[in-house]
Amino acid sequence: MEVPKIFGYIGLATSVLLLARIIKTVYIYIRPSSLSRYGKKGDEAWAFVTGASDGIGQGFAQELCARGFNVFLHGRNVEKLRKIQESLRKEYPTRQTRIIIYDASQIDASIDNIASQVGETTRLTVLINNVGGMGVMMPNTYTNLQDFTFEEMQTIISVNATFSAHITRVLLPLLFKNEPGLIINISSTTKFGIPWLVPYVATKAFAIGFGDSLSAEMRADKHDVEVMGVIVGSVESASNPAKPSLFTPTSRAMASAVLDRVGCGELSVWGHWAHRLQGIAVDVFPQKTFQDIATTQVRKLKLEQEQKKLK
Ligand SMILES: NC(=O)c1ccc[n+]([C@@H]2O[C@H](COP(=O)([O-])OP(=O)(O)OC[C@H]3O[C@@H](n4cnc5c(N)ncnc54)[C@H](OP(=O)(O)O)[C@@H]3O)[C@@H](O)[C@H]2O)c1
Repeated sequence: MEVPKIFGYIGLATSVLLLARIIKTVYIYIRPSSLSRYGKKGDEAWAFVTGASDGIGQGFAQELCARGFNVFLHGRNVEKLRKIQESLRKEYPTRQTRIIIYDASQIDASIDNIASQVGETTRLTVLINNVGGMGVMMPNTYTNLQDFTFEEMQTIISVNATFSAHITRVLLPLLFKNEPGLIINISSTTKFGIPWLVPYVATKAFAIGFGDSLSAEMRADKHDVEVMGVIVGSVESASNPAKPSLFTPTSRAMASAVLDRVGCGELSVWGHWAHRLQGIAVDVFPQKTFQDIATTQVRKLKLEQEQKKLK
């Protein structure tokens, strides 16, 4: 075969593959959500949202009520949760909510009791592992690994990873009983590696690895439980009080986008289309280059933090 012809075929094959990838990606963001599969009307389905007292978790509680679910609101601050419960009751009077108090930084075997608080009679079909965020690191958000205290590092890992793993273990039998079930694990763009946030970043990679293998286990054991990992970019929330913009959606818009991705068939997905666009950098650049670009931004934030402390 002539050499120029070979190049022509390679070019054609590459274009077809690229086009297929673009179509697949666009389809993920325009296809209708399969969430209704887990909460058929009149079925009294319940969702359990961890970290529901603020930010994206509160957004999930609002969106799930709007989409016909009753919601368990998990958190540590009963007053905050009561206020949210009251505003949900006013906005969605036909929906029910219940409060579950458990400090995710102080886990012991008592976490197993949450299953009985949820109860055998409620039809739990959805678990959203959302609790966490950078709030638990304040005011020392950007810190070199060796400078974290034992307690700081334990808190970050416990709130962002250990709690999610245990609550999933504890609630899984209820999800099996009420199949089909859905588990959503909230990760972050930081999972690709960012300096001065090492324990937090590691938990966000854990969320994806945990979900990937749990998904494989569900399929291997023939359980109808969908497990979806979600990569999240910047979102306006209690721990990220940024101004909402095209690339920084509100917490509720983020939660809505995640629920719209349910059933997309991916083990992990960029929840919001705007974050997916930013994620092209991860596809195009080598991971180290992506990390170096992110480092420039994070370095500024670390310097700001240090200057604030000096004042
Ligand atoms: N916002 C972003 O830009 C962004 C980006 C990527 C990924 N994410 C991920 O999205 C998720 C939510 O983040 P967010 O920004 O919405 O956070 P947030 O606004 O700070 O809200 C965090 C939630 O977790 C709860 N929480 C914190 N520590 C707890 C503890 N020890 N026990 C029980 N509950 C606790 C908070 O309760 P209190 O109200 O009592 O504090 C609150 O309800 C996290 O997994 C985060 O990693 C966020």
